[in-house]
Amino acid sequence: MNLTRRSLLASASALAVMPKFALGNEDTEVLEARPGAVSLVSDEFPATEVWTYNGEVPGPEIRVAQGARIKRRLVNSLEQPTTIHWHGVRIENAMDGVPGVTQDAVQPGGEFFYDFEVPDAGTYWYHSHFNTTEQISRGLYGALIVEEPNPPEVDHDITVVVDDWRLGQDAQIDPDFSQIHDWSHAGRLGNFLKATLTPALAEVKQNQRLRLRFICVATDRVMQVAMTGMQGKVVALDGMPLAVPTPAGVLTLGPAQRADVIVDVTGEPGGEAVIGFVGREGNITLASLAITGQASLASRGDIPVLRQNPIKQLDPLNGAKIAELKMEGGAMGSLKQGIYKGEMMSIDKLIENQQIWTFNGVAGMPDAPLAEVALGETLRIPIINDTAFAHALHLHGMHFQEVMPDGSFGPLRDTILLLRQERREIAFTASNPGDWVFHCHMLSHQKSGMITWVKVTA
Ligand code: C2O
Ligand code: CU
Repeated sequence: MNLTRRSLLASASALAVMPKFALGNEDTEVLEARPGAVSLVSDEFPATEVWTYNGEVPGPEIRVAQGARIKRRLVNSLEQPTTIHWHGVRIENAMDGVPGVTQDAVQPGGEFFYDFEVPDAGTYWYHSHFNTTEQISRGLYGALIVEEPNPPEVDHDITVVVDDWRLGQDAQIDPDFSQIHDWSHAGRLGNFLKATLTPALAEVKQNQRLRLRFICVATDRVMQVAMTGMQGKVVALDGMPLAVPTPAGVLTLGPAQRADVIVDVTGEPGGEAVIGFVGREGNITLASLAITGQASLASRGDIPVLRQNPIKQLDPLNGAKIAELKMEGGAMGSLKQGIYKGEMMSIDKLIENQQIWTFNGVAGMPDAPLAEVALGETLRIPIINDTAFAHALHLHGMHFQEVMPDGSFGPLRDTILLLRQERREIAFTASNPGDWVFHCHMLSHQKSGMITWVKVTA
């Protein structure tokens, strides 16, 4: 435990929880959600007031070996409740961090002890799951890296957390989180993109090999990321190794999606290797690495394939249960009415309740699950995006695979990006009992209606 007397006294609310620290498990590290200030833009701008874990944005990177237990005591030193969700982890339901579903929200001054195993290697992340449009936008997230027992050989293993901030001229976060106009369109899009590299890397050498673990933590923005001066392959998506790595061209990352790439530095010494955001008005540099020399004369060999995680992939879908999910609403949509909190409402009444989107006619968390399946049963979810916007649907607790039109299956994922008016189907074999939320990870859309859940009975 790294608490000093000074840091305890620095926070009045910490006093209330001090006796419990004294009784705490010695291997438990604390994640304290608390306000702070970080230099986000540059030295020419004032520090940005943010919400942090332990004073940092992104929060401290958690790196453990596959199969390890993670124990963290969340201490809430914010003025509003909070929880932590461990995104993409095949976790025990009680540790999933969804307030009102798997736990009570942690009140200001309160705490919650998270203790779980990480069965799968890969790139995951953790973030607040309470009032997420505000809490994640203000900085409450961090990377969670689970290392393979025999990781591929690389010169640098770097986490690249990409965020999209909405800042004013004074570099402060726009504090208005209830813009219905944003919610009914593509969400709260920012005006300042930032990639944080951990460890911070500024220089590379030609023919060095890098593993870059991209994590899109943006509130609502779909990120297109391109790399120049580097060449390689995407080796994992949403934490899960690809059986056949694909060339790393422009990566499309919806909110919450991850991609691991292994690339070799191909640029000339004296040049730069650049990670850039591909935008409509041109590219924006997110990170540039000076190429300071040559690591070796020869280029590296083939890009390795990562070992699969111990997850059973889909078998033929014979006899699977089917639960269709129809998404409606938003600007330019035709939604006239919907059910909210058990009551049928006109669109005007829904908007009064800050609800704009529906899943199967229901806005917000329904009482009944989208589907109930038994352990070992396979569920198919055909998804119809009958809206004019893209959505990034995330299932908690289990990864799914896309069912392709030809009947083959896509890679394991935990978040699927559907473009406007797109129809796609996902399926998974229920392997983790509990109540799992399934929602749009464009947090403005989640807040204004796009959430449901799936029940897996033991
Ligand atoms: Cu990453 Cu329910 O969230
Ligand atoms: Cu959405």
